[in-house]
Amino acid sequence: MPEHKMLTKRIGDINPLSIKDAMEKGSYKQFKKALSMERIDIIDEIEKANLRGRGGAGFPMHIKLMSTAKQEATPKYIVCNADEGEPGNFKDRYLMEKDPHMILEGMLIAAYAVGASRGFFYIRGEYDQAISIMKWAIEEAKEKGLLGKNINDSGFDFEMEVRTGAGSYVVGEEFAMIESIEGKSGRTRVKPPFPTDEGVFGMPTLLNNVETYCNLPFIVEMGGNNYKKIGTPTSTGTKLISLSGNITNPGVYEVPFGTTIREVIDTLGGGVPSDRKIKMVQLGGACGPIIPEFMLDMQIDYERFEEFESKTGAGAIIVMDDRQDLFEVLLRIVKFFEHESCGRCTPCREGHVHLEKLLRKFFKHDGTPNELYSLESLARVIHQSSLCGLGQSSPISIISTLGYFRNEFHDRMAFDGGEES
Ligand SMILES: Cc1cc2nc3c(=O)[nH]c(=O)nc-3n(C[C@H](O)[C@H](O)[C@H](O)COP(=O)(O)O)c2cc1C
Ligand code: SF4
Repeated sequence: MPEHKMLTKRIGDINPLSIKDAMEKGSYKQFKKALSMERIDIIDEIEKANLRGRGGAGFPMHIKLMSTAKQEATPKYIVCNADEGEPGNFKDRYLMEKDPHMILEGMLIAAYAVGASRGFFYIRGEYDQAISIMKWAIEEAKEKGLLGKNINDSGFDFEMEVRTGAGSYVVGEEFAMIESIEGKSGRTRVKPPFPTDEGVFGMPTLLNNVETYCNLPFIVEMGGNNYKKIGTPTSTGTKLISLSGNITNPGVYEVPFGTTIREVIDTLGGGVPSDRKIKMVQLGGACGPIIPEFMLDMQIDYERFEEFESKTGAGAIIVMDDRQDLFEVLLRIVKFFEHESCGRCTPCREGHVHLEKLLRKFFKHDGTPNELYSLESLARVIHQSSLCGLGQSSPISIISTLGYFRNEFHDRMAFDGGEES
């Protein structure tokens, strides 16, 4: 299946540092159209489109919009989550560096729909170029009167500023990000209340991913009913995929939902180089499942991912060929989460330390049946009892490989033929 270029259609053709160029090629037209619509009608179109979040959890956007719009408390805020700290993901950086005005236009439409007056664009601190480009784009939008007071004589006021992270991964989690915007250390809060009720400084806040906002100009342009013809009946629109690992053409590709993983790897990515064979593929990012080659005909859609007790993630596909050692991969993943755990809850803080110890035994061909049992139970405890999405999703790679690659765990036991208790 070919790429379906919608969000990425203008990339390569547009100068990201020129609002003049962007506007000549259509930027902000749909925002101006939205300003002439009733706020509720914009939300209705987004509901018809069935747009779901592209940042990982896949939550329906219209529910967040409606929930923020109906709040009476003001000021209301909107946040764009551009933290993108999870290994394997780089599609938001691509959008920021290549078409910043598409994101700003999407945020403006969302801000107008919910009645927000201030926006925060929270960008991963390491993304130097994206930070400079977004700051430049915001300044240009201010000069054109697209940000500020009484935009386009509509009576709508909206200010926007860039905030940057300081190297933490967990700050990509919505409440950790809100704490960070408030100037506190980036740690999650217990939910509810949700950000739409009590977000930044306790005020109603809409928080979405970069790619999610980018869909809004297209929904306003074509209407929700036409938008939902793209993709599958339940997973509508396109998905940007960050394709990396042992692949001939790594990069960002935009495909309609329903495309198979194999099509992305073979048709768009050019397959695995040097005639090697695919051993396994990790989906979503470091917190996603690892699946074997025979499962690559599965479709990219929200429902299919839920079968792995996992969310779609942000759309990473990490290809690993037959030279890769499963235990080296798992150890790298667990060490990442051990390092990134904020320490607030015990299962995640202590659990990753023990997961690493147990995995190291198998890595050294020194595992035992009891350690296999402990590894599996501990992974499930962390998954089920951690406070935030970091701990809830970090063991998915282990849980999935215990299913699909169990023989490799047996092969790494200290003695041959170890029986599981
Ligand atoms: C540890 C952790 C890190 C996350 N990092 C990101 C991120 O970098 N970008 C992102 O959009 N969402 C990230 N999320 C998901 C956000 O909490 C939130 O669900 C998302 O930004 C909402 O936007 P969406 O509905 O448009 O997907 C992360 C979640 C967790 C638990
Ligand atoms: S799951 Fe991990 S990152 Fe999340 S609150 Fe608990 S310790 Fe912090």
